[in-house]
Amino acid sequence: MQFVSFLRLLSVTVRIYSIFNAANLEITLEPGPPFSGNLVMHVRYFQGSKYPKELADLRRQTFVDETKFLPLDDAMDAWDESGVHICVFDSQDVLLGATHVLLAEESDFGKWTWIPDSQLKCAILSRRTAVAAKSRNRGIFQLLLYLGMRWGRMRGRKLVLGFLEDSDPPVKKLLQCEAITGVPLRQVSGADGHQYHLVPTWGDVQLMAQRSYSALPRSIRDWVRYHVMPEELTETVRERIFRFYENPWLAKTLRRELSRNEYGRAIANLHQYVRWTTRLLAQMTGQTADPELRAHFMDHLSGEIDHERMLEADLRGIGWDVEWVMNGMAPDPDILNFMSVQQSLVAFERDPVLFLMVPLVAEGLSAFLDKEFIAALEECATSWGIANPRSVTKFLRSHIHTDGGDDGHWAAVQGMIAGRIRDEAHHQRALAIIDAVAQSMNRAWSNYVAVPDFAAIRDVDSGLASGITSPGSPVKDVGEHQRGHNRRI
Ligand SMILES: [Fe+2]
Ligand SMILES: [Fe+2]
Repeated sequence: MQFVSFLRLLSVTVRIYSIFNAANLEITLEPGPPFSGNLVMHVRYFQGSKYPKELADLRRQTFVDETKFLPLDDAMDAWDESGVHICVFDSQDVLLGATHVLLAEESDFGKWTWIPDSQLKCAILSRRTAVAAKSRNRGIFQLLLYLGMRWGRMRGRKLVLGFLEDSDPPVKKLLQCEAITGVPLRQVSGADGHQYHLVPTWGDVQLMAQRSYSALPRSIRDWVRYHVMPEELTETVRERIFRFYENPWLAKTLRRELSRNEYGRAIANLHQYVRWTTRLLAQMTGQTADPELRAHFMDHLSGEIDHERMLEADLRGIGWDVEWVMNGMAPDPDILNFMSVQQSLVAFERDPVLFLMVPLVAEGLSAFLDKEFIAALEECATSWGIANPRSVTKFLRSHIHTDGGDDGHWAAVQGMIAGRIRDEAHHQRALAIIDAVAQSMNRAWSNYVAVPDFAAIRDVDSGLASGITSPGSPVKDVGEHQRGHNRRI
């Protein structure tokens, strides 16, 4: 009951579709405060040819009847079959506005400009953004452009391309995109047969996202901050995590080929930063004014106490020199990169909201591991001669529970983001931190299997000798040797 009345109070209702996953998979985002105005709308993504029939009407009204930019037959064209149509509907499911974005190399941009497709793979094409006449001046046009940039960014695209009239159309004024020099203008026939030219233009996706965000009315900006930004941050982290799961260290574990030292290198490097987690959280707690966020950091801190002890027990169990790991070992340079990011956020930038991005990635990596991974790791441990494999996998096994699940650290961090990102610039910085952490982690875990494990070699024969001295792919050679021989060490 409380929830229903709460909903009635809100002025913005939001639905957004997951854009990384299957077409038109709906995610209903809970509306939250603070909103003003009286805007009720839904944003929906339609993959290519699945666009709603009302889109053709909107295009006809805007580009044929009103501006006469296009003859009726061209209001919808073959390129509408590709990419995504981002559509805004009101509460009665009336289409208020739409934009079309597609990967530039899958568009006609190269055909008109003669730019080869290979050079278009860093870009999206933004086209035919239209808002119904009665819905203009409410920020829907800017929102559509913003969501288009976001779509491109989530696909790793850096640039946005388009064709603009050779005058001062609203989109040019808003985004201040630049003409591409040295390419032909595009000649077009309008609805009444008049000929005119379009100028091929380009812009930076991040800059265009900031410009379109800044032009949004307050109520839509708040909607973006509360719902659209957290959704993008979480989806980006998920995507990076699933990419991390293709890491060669994990792949080797799942093939039951991970050696004792490849495991040792991973958990020894975990120790390098896990032992500092409570100190970093304590420091961030002390400088966080937001009481709810401060309580979150304190709670997180209390859940991390002595976790490095589990790593020490695991290391001892596999026969590693624990004293060296604790007091002498330097982290892998990529782990040091990761540690530098979080230490900088705590000690230099002192931004508790951006600091949330670090556990969002780092804890996400363990939160989404599953039983199959642990089973595979324990089979590897058995192959090293460990009688009780559970005794050497305590840290990773326990962190699937402490970091994962609905009440784990990952979900708790995720729950803190909504509304705390200040604006698009802050959001882009959060995305950059996510990438910095994810890239460092990915490289570090790849490094752990990048050298042969000489300690895992037994039954040296001529085939193996050639394998371990080859600069080619020594790990693969040793692994292949192990499969055919005694793997016990
Ligand atoms: Fe932990
Ligand atoms: Fe944790």
